[in-house]
Amino acid sequence: MDEEFWHRKWRSDEIGFHQGETNALLLRHFSALGLAPGARVFVPLCGKSRDVHWLLGQGYAVVGAELSRLAVEQLFAELGLDPEVTDQGPLERFEAGRLTVFVGDFLDLDRETLGEVAGVYDRAALVALPEPMRGRYAAHLAAVTRHAPQLLITFEYDPSLAIGPPFSVTEHEVRRHYGAAYHVACAEMHEMKGGLKGGHPAHEAAYLLKPR
Ligand SMILES: C[S@@+](CC[C@H](N)C(=O)[O-])C[C@H]1O[C@@H](n2cnc3c(N)ncnc32)[C@H](O)[C@@H]1O
Repeated sequence: MDEEFWHRKWRSDEIGFHQGETNALLLRHFSALGLAPGARVFVPLCGKSRDVHWLLGQGYAVVGAELSRLAVEQLFAELGLDPEVTDQGPLERFEAGRLTVFVGDFLDLDRETLGEVAGVYDRAALVALPEPMRGRYAAHLAAVTRHAPQLLITFEYDPSLAIGPPFSVTEHEVRRHYGAAYHVACAEMHEMKGGLKGGHPAHEAAYLLKPR
């Protein structure tokens, strides 16, 4: 899963992962992170997610990271925001109002550049990456966010039936990546109507990660 794979997806508008509505698990479980009003929330691999609109609407300041400049241009345009764009080392920084998005490889985003965040929302980010990359992603996310509490949304399906993305990530794997540094609790797991990847049975799960 190289960078070109994602650039191609965005260029050809093959963005089946993009949801037209706010994610229902975000609506049901984000408050369990217990963040203060106006807190700064990090959304890794944010695409042009409607969930960013919702978080801003709740009064949070949102910081995203996204590889595709096209996705980020669309995100700001759909929000009706005209960003200021500046270079930030290997990344570009798009900023308008309470929204900042770093464009480039998430692994190039360091702690100082990101700044303090109070919470993290991962939907379709960990599961977007193949297994060999997920360990690096999770370790980097924990480090740059200084183990801020996280709402993590994953998919689970029989991996012999389909190849990701999205990849199937089990609770066991979530605990392997995050269990040493966080208390991990599964807040909800439900069967997905219509399944995933051509109708294969699948579950969507929400985990609450609180630093130990
Ligand atoms: C499956 S999509 C999910 C987007 C968004 N979270 C959502 O729920 O709609 C994964 C996103 O990660 C981005 N991406 C992939 N690899 C990345 C990387 N190394 N750094 C930053 N973004 C990346 C892709 O361009 C894509 O927009």
